[in-house]
Amino acid sequence: MTSMTRTYSLFDRLIVDAQRALETIGGTPVAIRANPADLQADIVLDEADRRHAAGLMRVNHVGEVCAQALYVGQATVARDPVVRAHLLAAAQEETDHLAWCADRLRELDSRPSLLNPVWYAGSYAMGLLAGLRGDGYNLGFVAETEHQVEAHIDTHLDNLPAADIRSRAILQTMKADEARHAHEAEQAGARALPFPVPLAMAAASKVMKAVAYRV
Ligand SMILES: [Fe+2]
Ligand SMILES: [Fe+2]
Repeated sequence: MTSMTRTYSLFDRLIVDAQRALETIGGTPVAIRANPADLQADIVLDEADRRHAAGLMRVNHVGEVCAQALYVGQATVARDPVVRAHLLAAAQEETDHLAWCADRLRELDSRPSLLNPVWYAGSYAMGLLAGLRGDGYNLGFVAETEHQVEAHIDTHLDNLPAADIRSRAILQTMKADEARHAHEAEQAGARALPFPVPLAMAAASKVMKAVAYRV
């Protein structure tokens, strides 16, 4: 009699990843935690502020699409099952962020980036490449990404219209989560990335932010 235990091949994992990609891009992600914006009043913004807030929250939504893709790509090629589980657990918290940003975009009468399939594919490829360098660099990539996102959220907290307290509440919770994700990756054995990599990551995210604010 054959065993019922199934081990997943790389091909199996890629199929599961493709399904996750479709859910992230085309589905309606469901948050496990309550949306932090729910505790804040929904102040009606003037048109210029509404458009600006929508642009910023579209950038943050794309950032969360990229986070999903990075973590799923990295988990697919992670060697240690503990590291893989760590990456997939972090991806679940990013799903909360993704859902909250999507909610806020709807409230602001706006929409996610039309280029989300492109952002997802690029980030997934980066996640695979980072993961193939080994688990230490894989975790190092998480730590560096999360530190950069945390710094980026600070600029958006400074930049949001003062009346947009609902977006602000979402970003404050996200910032705390991203800082914890970085810390956990460092505790789990993150290695420092070689010199040009953090700069290349910052340059890629700068392009994404400029485009996603509008498209
Ligand atoms: Fe996030
Ligand atoms: Fe994160």
